[in-house]
Amino acid sequence: MRFLFISVSLVSLFVLEAHKAQSEIQVPLENVENQYTAYRGEDTVTSYSIFSGITTFARLPWVQCLGMQEGVQFDIAFLGAPFDTGTSYRPGARFGPAGIRAGSRRTGLGGPYNVPLDVNAFENLTIVDCGDIPVTPYDSAVAIKQIEDDHKELLHRTPVSKLGLDAETGQQLVSVASDGKEHPRIITLGGDHTIVLPILRSIHSAYGAISVIHFDSHLDTWIPSVFGGATTHQAEINHGTYFYWASKEGLIKNGTSVHGAIRTTLYGLVDYENDDASGFRRIEAREIETIGKSHISILANCTDGIIKKIHDTIGINPVYLSIDIDAIDPAFAPATGTPETGGWTTRELRAIIRGLDGLRIVSADIVEVAPAYDTKAEITSIAAADVRSIFYSTSITSS
Ligand SMILES: *[C@@H]1O[C@H](CO)[C@@H](O)[C@H](O)[C@H]1NC(C)=O
Ligand SMILES: *[C@@H]1O[C@H](CO)[C@@H](O)[C@H](O)[C@H]1NC(C)=O
Ligand SMILES: *[C@@H]1O[C@H](CO)[C@@H](O)[C@H](O)[C@H]1NC(C)=O
Repeated sequence: MRFLFISVSLVSLFVLEAHKAQSEIQVPLENVENQYTAYRGEDTVTSYSIFSGITTFARLPWVQCLGMQEGVQFDIAFLGAPFDTGTSYRPGARFGPAGIRAGSRRTGLGGPYNVPLDVNAFENLTIVDCGDIPVTPYDSAVAIKQIEDDHKELLHRTPVSKLGLDAETGQQLVSVASDGKEHPRIITLGGDHTIVLPILRSIHSAYGAISVIHFDSHLDTWIPSVFGGATTHQAEINHGTYFYWASKEGLIKNGTSVHGAIRTTLYGLVDYENDDASGFRRIEAREIETIGKSHISILANCTDGIIKKIHDTIGINPVYLSIDIDAIDPAFAPATGTPETGGWTTRELRAIIRGLDGLRIVSADIVEVAPAYDTKAEITSIAAADVRSIFYSTSITSS
């Protein structure tokens, strides 16, 4: 299963070369030869310790994809969406992109090689940090449109890497997009969860209705009337209802989408009926205690049962991955908009994300990180920065 699509990452550039090309415009990072050597010599600037310099995601090159460097190409882009006016409880996810970037600084220190998956996800791909979408904090309707437009603009750029041959059959891989084209992958750093509505509108422009894997303690398919209705249509679109609207707009593929880590309280079982109508299957957080038990008694093994349920639901459909940091227990990730106890551990979520390898993940996000509520040890931001695990799945998937 694992390397079924690996040959797509046959590329013209090694990532180090890509770093070089991209970073010519961002002296002094380019002039550094050895991160362990700190001196300033001829043509050499040494402010390159992992804790110094300007912070981008995993210290990737910063490219102003939406501004001065319009038209630049890449395979994977990290993109901030600092929007939090759809939040119902704790505000502050507008600082999520900055917090996740800070939490990701050490990511490349030991090198990007992933031991359990036996892959260097950075190899052969051009990966950049595109900075943030310029989102207005004053008008949600405008902000949501800005997110859709800018995501779409990047999604429709031609990626650097071309589709290669299937590692197993040797056949030429074909695009999984409904427009038949190749698209780069975008990993969006939220922002509150509302941003997924405009992102799915963008995804629809390339892939049509898409399957969704959604890790979250909440359903987010609530019908606004459940909350007593809203004074304006705009108020009906928020971080608890965006999937209801996405489903209504036909953006989600019915029956092949799944929630994981659910443990929200409900208004009643009617919430589940509405969720069914939105096209999702559910995996409750507590299933991790039981789902693998028939096989073996140790808890860690139960991630296998969760992974199987996800694969069985998604199949070979192209899939969008959305991770709310509140899928993780607040003991491990307290800094979020609507924390719920009884979640998965960071280790369990990592195992489950690794288990997504082989699925055709076309883009992803990590949302609801509100750094103001974090500990001084940055535990939430560091957990969120682990979205790099997503590389290990997405980088081997056809675009
Ligand atoms: C990168 O490209 C080289 C040379 O084509 C290849 O041997 C290697 O397997 C590729 N790595 C990945 C992770 O695809
Ligand atoms: C999805 O399928 C279910 C079961 O067939 C159906 O009840 C529901 O209305 C469908 N939802 C959408 C949005 O098409
Ligand atoms: C979980 O248990 C099953 C059945 O004993 C075994 O086949 C599988 O390899 C185990 N998975 C892990 C990750 O240990």
